[in-house]
Amino acid sequence: MNNSKFLKALRQEKNEIPPIWFMRQAGRYLPEYQQIRRGYKNFLDMCKEPKTCAELAMQPIERFNLDASILFSDILTIPDAFDLGLAFHEGEGPKFSNPISSPQHISGLENFQIEKLSYVFRAVEETKKILPDALPLIGFCGSPWTLAAYSIEGGGSKDFHKTKNFLSEHPEAVKEYLEIMTDACFQYLKQQVISGVNALQIFDSWADLLSSKDLETYSLSYTRKLARKLKEDPITSDIPIILFEKAPRIEVTEIVFSDLSCISLHWSDDIKNISLNLKNQLSIQGNLNPTFLLESDETIWTETQNICSAMKDFPGFIFNLGHGITPDIKPEKVQVMIDAVRS
Ligand code: CP3
Repeated sequence: MNNSKFLKALRQEKNEIPPIWFMRQAGRYLPEYQQIRRGYKNFLDMCKEPKTCAELAMQPIERFNLDASILFSDILTIPDAFDLGLAFHEGEGPKFSNPISSPQHISGLENFQIEKLSYVFRAVEETKKILPDALPLIGFCGSPWTLAAYSIEGGGSKDFHKTKNFLSEHPEAVKEYLEIMTDACFQYLKQQVISGVNALQIFDSWADLLSSKDLETYSLSYTRKLARKLKEDPITSDIPIILFEKAPRIEVTEIVFSDLSCISLHWSDDIKNISLNLKNQLSIQGNLNPTFLLESDETIWTETQNICSAMKDFPGFIFNLGHGITPDIKPEKVQVMIDAVRS
């Protein structure tokens, strides 16, 4: 396991051929996923079946022989455990029936009951049972800010209007909620590690909603606190942490901090320039624009190789997409990208 290309890269050791995995690798673009998905009305019910989660996490490994697997679950399990009433409706994305509505709602929340998420930890155990022995499993959570944005908005949205208004009216209440999320994320990731994950990724998928000043105040400061808690706990101190920031308004070189093993770059980030500044500081993961996977094989090949050659001399490069793969992408196109990385 420790000699796996993925964990080596996370220690900034050089690999002749970079390891590859990609965000949302288990999901709707795979016909074998769709087949299992049809058996469940609500996506969350599927996440509550540990053996099914294990099978879904295995699907992209079997098809593409990737260098890391990721737990099959979702970032919104934590707000759901605070009784915000999560459901995934057909074609609509996530919806909370009881979103955060007032400062009183936040101060009246019950303590985090981690037992409510035991289905996630059982999914980790089941996945470890069926994964190849030397294949690392990535555990994950949303950043406290990203979880807060969904919790207040009540679901996905283009501009997160409600969240922005709530933030300007009740900044102290938002901070209180961010503290609650930070502590819940810590306990959640720690229990994933106890259950068997080998690395952790934190998704700050709504970093781009915040101005540079607010990004520091409402997102990065809590993510750093979460990472610090993990590093200070003997159970999680050696587990590498990867951070994904979606299109942040602050330079990536100013976002990174020493508790991180790796920064996962968004497709809009300039990987070459950033890597010149971060060499020997931490690993870099990224960052092909997933929309290239809708183009010709030649384009996919060229764009993939451009990234690989830019990162050729960077110790600790992990090939990934610059955001999650979308359902409209054909698995054969993914194979072209993988062949280009491994050629
Ligand atoms: O291989 C994997 O990555 C699977 C595990 C996984 C899922 N979600 C499964 C999923 C992971 C790591 C996530 C993370 C996640 N969930 C993020 C962060 C990554 C990112 O894309 O920025 C976010 C923002 C969410 C929240 C979420 N979950 C949304 C907005 C949606 C609906 C639309 C969409 O993007 O797919 C989901 C549902 C979801 N989570 C699906 C899957 C496979 C699709 C559900 C379905 O089949 O209906």
